[in-house]
Amino acid sequence: MARTNGRIPGVEARAGRSPGPSLIRSLNAIQREHGWLPREQLVRLARDTRRPLYELEGLISFYPHFRTTPPAKIEITVCRDLSCWLHGGDERIARIHELYGDDAEIEVREVSCIGRCDRPPAATVNERPAVVSELNDVVREARAPGGAHAGGLRTGQAASCAAAPARRHWPNDPYPEGADASHYGVVRAMLAGSLRPADTIELVEHSGLRGMGAALGTLKESGLRGMGGAGFPTAAKWELVATQEGEPKYVICNADESEPGTFKDRQILAEQPHLVIEGMLIAMLTIGAEQGWLFVRHEYGPEEEAFRAELAGARAQAILGENVLGSGRRLEIDVFTSPGGYILGEESALLECMEGHRGEPRNKPPFPATYGLWGKPTLMNSVETLAAIPVILERGGQWWRDQGVRGGVGLKFLAVSGQIANPGVYCVPMGTTARELIELAGGVADGAELQAFQPGGASSNFLGPEQLDVPLDFKPLADAGSMLGSGALVVIAEGTNLLAAATNVLRFFRDESCGKCVPCRTGSHKAHQILTELLERGGGAGDVDQRIDQLEETMRLTSICGLGQVALGPVMSVLRMQRTGTAAAP
Ligand SMILES: Cc1cc2nc3c(=O)[nH]c(=O)nc-3n(C[C@H](O)[C@H](O)[C@H](O)COP(=O)(O)O)c2cc1C
Ligand code: SF4
Ligand code: FES
Repeated sequence: MARTNGRIPGVEARAGRSPGPSLIRSLNAIQREHGWLPREQLVRLARDTRRPLYELEGLISFYPHFRTTPPAKIEITVCRDLSCWLHGGDERIARIHELYGDDAEIEVREVSCIGRCDRPPAATVNERPAVVSELNDVVREARAPGGAHAGGLRTGQAASCAAAPARRHWPNDPYPEGADASHYGVVRAMLAGSLRPADTIELVEHSGLRGMGAALGTLKESGLRGMGGAGFPTAAKWELVATQEGEPKYVICNADESEPGTFKDRQILAEQPHLVIEGMLIAMLTIGAEQGWLFVRHEYGPEEEAFRAELAGARAQAILGENVLGSGRRLEIDVFTSPGGYILGEESALLECMEGHRGEPRNKPPFPATYGLWGKPTLMNSVETLAAIPVILERGGQWWRDQGVRGGVGLKFLAVSGQIANPGVYCVPMGTTARELIELAGGVADGAELQAFQPGGASSNFLGPEQLDVPLDFKPLADAGSMLGSGALVVIAEGTNLLAAATNVLRFFRDESCGKCVPCRTGSHKAHQILTELLERGGGAGDVDQRIDQLEETMRLTSICGLGQVALGPVMSVLRMQRTGTAAAP
């Protein structure tokens, strides 16, 4: 592992600065109890934990979820990002300010994507999901003493009454519909030593493996790649962690999912928590970990509840606990609720957050596989990746490969939103084209013509109608000048100002920049300011000058993490399309 002066690069700056256990959970607990963070509670926490108050202030000022003033009786948040913006977001937000702006009981806040892009413009009332068109009724309910939205999720009372989606049977679920008793079959087989003996034999001989190798051969054969954005081969990552010497090891399921247009992991958590948990348990057995964590964004309250309920059920069946299925092995999974911010989805920022620091990405290497949570080898995968593991081990690696089309491997969950007839989550063969997916989702809304689409969430470059037949897969999308990214297809109909749409995306990145590096922090502000002023003057792509190209190049080449590197990518793709009349090029 690369070291400088005996220290681990990327963490030396804070080494010794804020030692001790994370205070984020304590802050979450205070906010849950009071709805905010009263000063006297902070002073007490600092005194009880013998930590300086400035450390607490540093955390509170970084994370958007924490508040240092009491909330209004009713807090409305409204999303202003792309999928919601395409549904008249700006006008509706202005209307909400008009309606409630003078109401002393109500506070209206505009926020980044809340992961409910399929019900645009998305809103929350006292942290409970709502839609803008129903806001009047929801607010009336919230005003009523004891009403369903009074207090809301922030006091921990109303989580269970938030509408949970009906559970459907998805093609990645190896267990028969309605047969809950059959769940966790792969974990049972692993612990009984009866999981695909051929693979086990091959892997028991694998040098240096410190966990149970039974899953790795099948996983390798499957060709599964990480669905969190980068597409890193899953088996290679698992093997790397499994062969590390450090102890203990950890497994983290990354459920931060905060990129505009992206909500597939939310659906998987709500409808298939058993597969996510089983995927985590298989990972833990494979790499030799006892402890797993779900890191979940705080806006996913109902989904967190579904996950916790499934955990409780698994514990009751001894699938989790001190002595799993009588095997003598301890396997535990805990939930860490994120205090907010898109950047926490970046793996090293997530670790910083869990360790109790400001969630700023680390310089890499080292990667989490070698130096992860609390410096220990850590396996981090996305929700979708982990939910694919049970079916692969149940039906075999070749079965998974066979699910793809046009050379694609496996199944893919994709969130479809924007100007589309039936927004939602679709599970399709990897390699399905954008045209096929849009048809599956009922076509462009109101029968309009398609102008452009983002195939992989806010980070992905816009593509045009002539690229509708590109397979939604890692390489074909990269060859077309975009990426599969966060698995979110956002549809834009004719008649929308595409440069304004791309500027909306840039605003998201500007707002979510953690501020650690100057090019991203100031570059995103500057570029957004230039484009906003140009749009306000009625300018278009032809009026954009070289400053944007220069800012894009600087940010791409010098930002520490993916956020700054791609922040101006979507804008550049629109400029290329409109300057040259052709779609985005690599
Ligand atoms: C700015 C940024 C945000 C990210 N957000 C997420 C996220 O919400 N969920 C996720 O699984 N991965 C996210 N990632 C990727 C993670 O860093 C990491 O690669 C991923 O969790 C690994 O899981 P996988 O191997 O299953 O893809 C993000 C990366 C960046 C740069
Ligand atoms: S690129 Fe942006 S988000 Fe990433 S570390 Fe730098 S300032 Fe933070
Ligand atoms: S909830 Fe509005 S863009 Fe996702």
